[in-house]
Amino acid sequence: MANDKATTDGNPETTAGWVVNPVGPLRGDVVVRGSKNAVTKHLVASMLAESPSTVSNCPDIGDVDITISMLEAVGCEVDRDGGKVTVNPRTLDSSRVPIRFSGMNRIPILMVGPLLHRVGEAFVPLVGGDDIGSRPIDYHVEALTKMGAEISLTEEGLEAKATRLRGAHIELPYPSVGATESVLLTACLAEGRTVLDGGATEPEVIELALFLQRMGARIELRPNRRFIIDGVEELSGASHHLAGDRIEAFSYLVAGLITGGEVRVHGCKQDRLVTAISTLSGMGAKFEITDSSVSAWADKLSPAAVETDTHPGFMTDWQSPMVALFTQCDGLSVMYETVYENRFTYVPALNKMGAEIETYTTPLGTVEQQPRFVGSSTPCSVIVRGMAPLRGTEVVVPDIRGGFAYVLAAAAAQGTTTITGTHHLDRGYNHPIENFAELGLDIKRVDVPMPATAES
Ligand code: EPU
Repeated sequence: MANDKATTDGNPETTAGWVVNPVGPLRGDVVVRGSKNAVTKHLVASMLAESPSTVSNCPDIGDVDITISMLEAVGCEVDRDGGKVTVNPRTLDSSRVPIRFSGMNRIPILMVGPLLHRVGEAFVPLVGGDDIGSRPIDYHVEALTKMGAEISLTEEGLEAKATRLRGAHIELPYPSVGATESVLLTACLAEGRTVLDGGATEPEVIELALFLQRMGARIELRPNRRFIIDGVEELSGASHHLAGDRIEAFSYLVAGLITGGEVRVHGCKQDRLVTAISTLSGMGAKFEITDSSVSAWADKLSPAAVETDTHPGFMTDWQSPMVALFTQCDGLSVMYETVYENRFTYVPALNKMGAEIETYTTPLGTVEQQPRFVGSSTPCSVIVRGMAPLRGTEVVVPDIRGGFAYVLAAAAAQGTTTITGTHHLDRGYNHPIENFAELGLDIKRVDVPMPATAES
């Protein structure tokens, strides 16, 4: 990856970090690339075809590096030319994703269906990703089993076998993005019809379904979260230009708003941001929206009560940038997280920077949804008192999105902030240092002494 990330020089006393010196309002243009949560799934879909597929507008992020390495490990030939990645699946000859990929991202479980179709068996190591909840894979396992896979879970990962996968009726208890993608990737070459009820309809899932359709899959999207997939004998390679990352786009719009500036985001269309735009405009933000860009600014922002949800609701990945923004809104704001049970681990560090955020284990705010994590000891709601003057300090990133909230808070603070654990950010953001520098922020990668303890 071209990011000039981690430069610890092998010194065990230091770690890679970012140092942020606030400069006042951030202004300017940012171009976002294809989304982190779509690109890896398209690369996995390429495994299913009889010929090469090309995915372009790929972001230059750690998750793409990891996924390409896993595809190569099972024998695919992968050619990467800037943002264009071509996967030749004809050379795929191994059923095993090596154990060294254990815990690196969420993608190995999605490779089970494609490996079963191609080689009749699969081993994938334990999935990882951000530590934002228990993130089980039971929906994936149940769906694959219904489709005829024999699965055993070991301490190291998941072993699967199938002579021929067949269509099934699958009902997801919750519209899981990953489990929906597992079903789509498995059902399109299975024998007969699969009916999936309760599927996720996030734009990245629909983008994957459209890519599979381009490869020759027979997929219908019906009302009420129902997908119908009629298995075909074979798929051919296809090409796709990824749509822009709506998580990054929202985060950079907030970078402008939190500093009293104005950021114009290119490369992510309005329809991917509809709920973000309506929520921010309800708080007083003004927008200029064109066919190719969205920019936001505000004279003054009011507090709000927001609840995260599945699409088209306010997405969980927008939650931490929004909480950072709440610290600079005049009054009490509420955020209720409904998707993950442990997504407020970044709050202590924001409080250390001067924010006034209280956490609660009960749903607060409008509470339109049934609580999913009843009795959980981790907080599901926060109340944020703004405007709180923020000050720079030392913070350790707990997960991708929490880490970006630190950068936003650091840009709005007084004094220098040193952020470590930035490898999380490199896994998910395309050239963030360069983008922030374009907006005028004084931000640099550095080697810093190891923090004594983790922040969160
Ligand atoms: N769930 C289960 N069992 C399963 C699968 C999911 O209980 O077998 C639960 C999860 O524990 C969670 C909920 O269902 O409470 C939703 O999880 P989902 O499966 O939708 O999440 P995911 O596919 O693992 C993707 C993104 C996340 C994003 C969510 C929700 C990728 C690689 N990750 O995760 O992105 O928050 O969908 O939209 O696509 C991020 O980018 O920072 C990130 C965490």
